[in-house]
Amino acid sequence: MNLKDTVKLANGVEMPRLGFGVWKVKDGDEAVNSVKWAIEAGYISIDTAAAYKNEEGVGQAIKESGVKREDLFVTTKLWNAEQGYESTLAAFDESLRKLELDYVDLYLIHWPVEGKFKDTWRAFEKLYKDKRVRAIGVCNFHEHHLKELMEDAEIAPMVNQIELHPQLTQEPLRKFCAENNIVVEAWSPLGNGKLLANPEIKAIADAHGKSVAQVILRWDLQIGVVTIPKSVHQERIIQNADIFDFELTEEEVAKISGLNKDERTGPDPDNFNF
Ligand SMILES: NC(=O)c1ccc[n+]([C@@H]2O[C@H](COP(=O)([O-])OP(=O)(O)OC[C@H]3O[C@@H](n4cnc5c(N)ncnc54)[C@H](OP(=O)(O)O)[C@@H]3O)[C@@H](O)[C@H]2O)c1
Repeated sequence: MNLKDTVKLANGVEMPRLGFGVWKVKDGDEAVNSVKWAIEAGYISIDTAAAYKNEEGVGQAIKESGVKREDLFVTTKLWNAEQGYESTLAAFDESLRKLELDYVDLYLIHWPVEGKFKDTWRAFEKLYKDKRVRAIGVCNFHEHHLKELMEDAEIAPMVNQIELHPQLTQEPLRKFCAENNIVVEAWSPLGNGKLLANPEIKAIADAHGKSVAQVILRWDLQIGVVTIPKSVHQERIIQNADIFDFELTEEEVAKISGLNKDERTGPDPDNFNF
């Protein structure tokens, strides 16, 4: 495995297994610098969202990186307020304008807004058929949301990006997604930084001469989920990508998975108020 390793989505598109997340990265210099550092460090996948309000900085960094557009994998997301058929199409145009791109690799519904996500999905299917996005998917969908969406979808979601880390391993949902050929992508893989002091993971990290962050990200790869850590520090961005020169044993993987407490850092997708 290496930084360019991909997983094949249901439609054959190759999605990098490790990407760079930019939630809470400020637009302007912070976004431009951190995305450029990530691309310099070899990341080829960037995960942004309309709601992060940094698509312009991400787009600028991509442009200035000197890396060919087709060699990158860019994800953005549709925000809740824009759900609905026409409003989704308009919001997508606005994201492309800010990113200064003419397509995105992956477009995701950010949250399952009840009563709206099916109309939104019809717009996603149109964008996909019009070849303005290479793949479409969702975030924060429980199994019941996925089932409801797939009841009358023409195209099934290719990705479900969900909160996933050692204290929230999401095994039942991962199983359902695997059975339905939906790739699972872990958001807040480091528990938004809260897991970095975990003593059990620290012991494993010490045994490998690696950091806790590196061990968690390696665990993501070994359990088969795509992962998108965020940092605004160059040395951490480099460190988080330096996870291809060691391997966790099966026991270590099981030990980390055993830390599950079904404990979220973010809201439950059945109960969010934004
Ligand atoms: N779809 C959704 O609803 C959703 C929700 C949340 C997140 N996401 C996506 O998932 C991405 C990752 O999640 P996240 O940003 O919540 O958190 P995360 O990647 O789990 O953790 C990021 C935090 O850990 C720190 N950190 C990162 N690498 C480190 C290292 N090697 N050593 C020490 N500290 C380190 C960062 O600090 P510094 O930045 O100060 O270095 C930051 O505070 C987001 O950026 C976003 O793209 C999606």
